[in-house]
Amino acid sequence: MSYDFFKQEIYLKKIDSTNNYLKSTHFDENIIIYTFNQTKGRGRRNKEWLDFKNKNLAVSFLIKSPLDPFWFICAASLSLIDLLKSLNIKKSWIKWPNDIYIDDKKLSGILAETIWYQGNIQRIIIGIGININNNIDDFVDLKSATSLYLATGKKQKLKMIYQNYKRELSRWLLELTENKNLDLISEKWKEASYISDKKIKWIINNEIISGNIHDIKEDGTLIIKSINNILYEVKTGEVILE
Ligand code: BTN
Repeated sequence: MSYDFFKQEIYLKKIDSTNNYLKSTHFDENIIIYTFNQTKGRGRRNKEWLDFKNKNLAVSFLIKSPLDPFWFICAASLSLIDLLKSLNIKKSWIKWPNDIYIDDKKLSGILAETIWYQGNIQRIIIGIGININNNIDDFVDLKSATSLYLATGKKQKLKMIYQNYKRELSRWLLELTENKNLDLISEKWKEASYISDKKIKWIINNEIISGNIHDIKEDGTLIIKSINNILYEVKTGEVILE
């Protein structure tokens, strides 16, 4: 029997946002919730995350941990990369900091949020959206999006994708919280990020800096080398692949 990190699991028939749900209700740690009908999903930088009923999976989990939320983003991303490998999808990679791509198209995004109490992070909420059975018509306005259906040519069973994802996630969360194997996670995350020599543009405070990805530090900070050979440590802003 495989290890289950989560003490509680909730399936919601319909919800505005799984992250909102965990934020608005007082839950204990190590809970996971999911739906195939999220009506008002939120993305990073106040963008919306588009879901189609019974075609997308929205999952959120809540934990209590002294570790930086970055590590849980790694665990959530690596779990999806492993799931994709098991579906024989080879060209998946992590686009810094928390998108999962197949080739040059986005399959999944992650939204990490924190609940603070008296100046300390009290809870971490990680939400993952995965495009599963979307067809090309669903993405007319999202040219750079893809789904598992588009990547494999096969309609997927939503519940099975969720269960397999949760199994991988439990494994990585155990590696993180119990085995404290940060080295392994960092190494795997870097490996899946295919950082070497990617040409990018970094948009920060309305300024655009062009360069190459140079490295990723242990804590997830991205190091960019600009075309003028200046090294920048990137924690925020948007990085666009050229
Ligand atoms: C992004 O790509 O900007 C992040 C998208 C995150 C979407 C997920 S779906 C589950 C969870 N609930 C939300 O409202 N957002 C996240």
